[in-house]
Amino acid sequence: MAKRGGSEFVCQNCGTVYPRWQGKCDACGEWNSIIEEKVGGEGFSNLPSKRKGQIIDFVPLSGSQEKLDRLTTSIKELDRVCGGGLVAGSVILVGGDPGIGKSTLLLQTCAKVAELPSKPECYYISGEEAIDQVRIRAKRLGLEKAPVKLASATDIKDIIATLEKSNAAVVIIDSIQTMYLEEVESTPGSVAQVRACSYELIKLAKKKGFTLFLVGHVTKQGSIAGPRVLEHMVDTVLYFEGERGHHFRILRAVKNRYGATDEIGVFEMQDQGLVEVENPSALFLAERQGNISGSCVFAGIEGSRPVLVEIQALVSPTGYSSPKRAVVGWDSNRLAMVLAVLEARCGMNLSSQDVYLNIAGGLRITEPAADLAVAMAVISSLTNKPLPHDMVIFGEIGLSGEVRAVSQPSLRMKEARKLGFSSVVTPPRHSKDNAKSYDLNIYEIGNVQRLINMFN
Ligand SMILES: Nc1ncnc2c1ncn2[C@@H]1O[C@H](COP(=O)(O)OP(=O)(O)OP(=O)(O)O)[C@@H](O)[C@H]1O
Ligand SMILES: [Mg+2]
Ligand SMILES: [Zn+2]
Repeated sequence: MAKRGGSEFVCQNCGTVYPRWQGKCDACGEWNSIIEEKVGGEGFSNLPSKRKGQIIDFVPLSGSQEKLDRLTTSIKELDRVCGGGLVAGSVILVGGDPGIGKSTLLLQTCAKVAELPSKPECYYISGEEAIDQVRIRAKRLGLEKAPVKLASATDIKDIIATLEKSNAAVVIIDSIQTMYLEEVESTPGSVAQVRACSYELIKLAKKKGFTLFLVGHVTKQGSIAGPRVLEHMVDTVLYFEGERGHHFRILRAVKNRYGATDEIGVFEMQDQGLVEVENPSALFLAERQGNISGSCVFAGIEGSRPVLVEIQALVSPTGYSSPKRAVVGWDSNRLAMVLAVLEARCGMNLSSQDVYLNIAGGLRITEPAADLAVAMAVISSLTNKPLPHDMVIFGEIGLSGEVRAVSQPSLRMKEARKLGFSSVVTPPRHSKDNAKSYDLNIYEIGNVQRLINMFN
């Protein structure tokens, strides 16, 4: 570390610190991302002192603990992603692409909380937009009557001094990249500023016990701009995502000290703002066409909730020497693996075919449980044979072509039944006793070869 008052060179992309300038960051490979920053410590209240350390008291693991104080916002999708409501004194970082709806979501949250019968004090501090702009949005969303305290400010010292005297329950900082602390001699949005401002705000949130939302911009690589450090400082990291041209928005927890990650909240962006989607499966399947080859329905799990989505594949003879593989919404390595298994274990010839794969509706799936559905969509497209319209599929594929069990099969099947599907293709099931209770035709498949036979 450089001496206090000296300077250090910090990569604005990943936060790596170097003793001298260099053109390329060794850690993340970005060019021209390293700039000089004056060392100001973690914040203005962190100046060195002569005080000696004191002896710490140790206690046993068991003992009385305070029950987590959770505030339910009445936006169920948000509460779910946060682990069942907002924890007092917790800090939530909300990242997302420009224009995805971060400010909209947080303004709605703020207004909904402020309107609760217990009248929590809610502060919305915008460093990005003028008061008028926020008011216009509030009017469009029909929230102008909500008792939210709105301010446009960027000086962290002012903000801290104000909140210090308040009785805040929820504070929204939109965005952390616009905030600055005088003592830190770099521009707002730089790693040093983001870190120092967050540090001060987080300390106050813990002290006063309010829930702090920080909006963070996302870099072109898709991580929250500024250092990874920020993700470590906060309790919860949420990503707000969605595909351009789609109106679904998905709020995803990638870190949560107070709940499960991988939980998602689904919203639909409408003129009057973000509307919660209680039954995402119905929404994702709404535009599905019947009797088309290359399409099948995957019964997936997102967090604690089953979600049915349509998987579309298009296989067509290639015009190139190396065939094209394009994937939207799934892992391209995973697709390559599924295709390799189909070639090696089932004798399918895909090396002269381009393969396009799309998860309809803009959802991004990470589960390997989608393997079997992907394989099915590919085979269906290649053979040009549509699948039964009322069939759902799930299962993981192993390298030898075996179909492996996945988590929570009963939850997936129940959701399929609820949405009117009547048959399901699953991995071999170990407990068959309750098969009847699903009221579905269950086709158990132990090997991908069997999948191909289904088309004959
Ligand atoms: N009538 C409307 N006027 C403006 N935006 C609308 C309207 N109806 C829907 N929207 C949506 O609101 C989105 C803007 O949302 P918002 O400003 O909350 O995003 P953000 O993530 O905060 O963006 P930024 O990164 O610029 O802060 C637009 O991209 C658009 O999809
Ligand atoms: Mg915004
Ligand atoms: Zn870097």
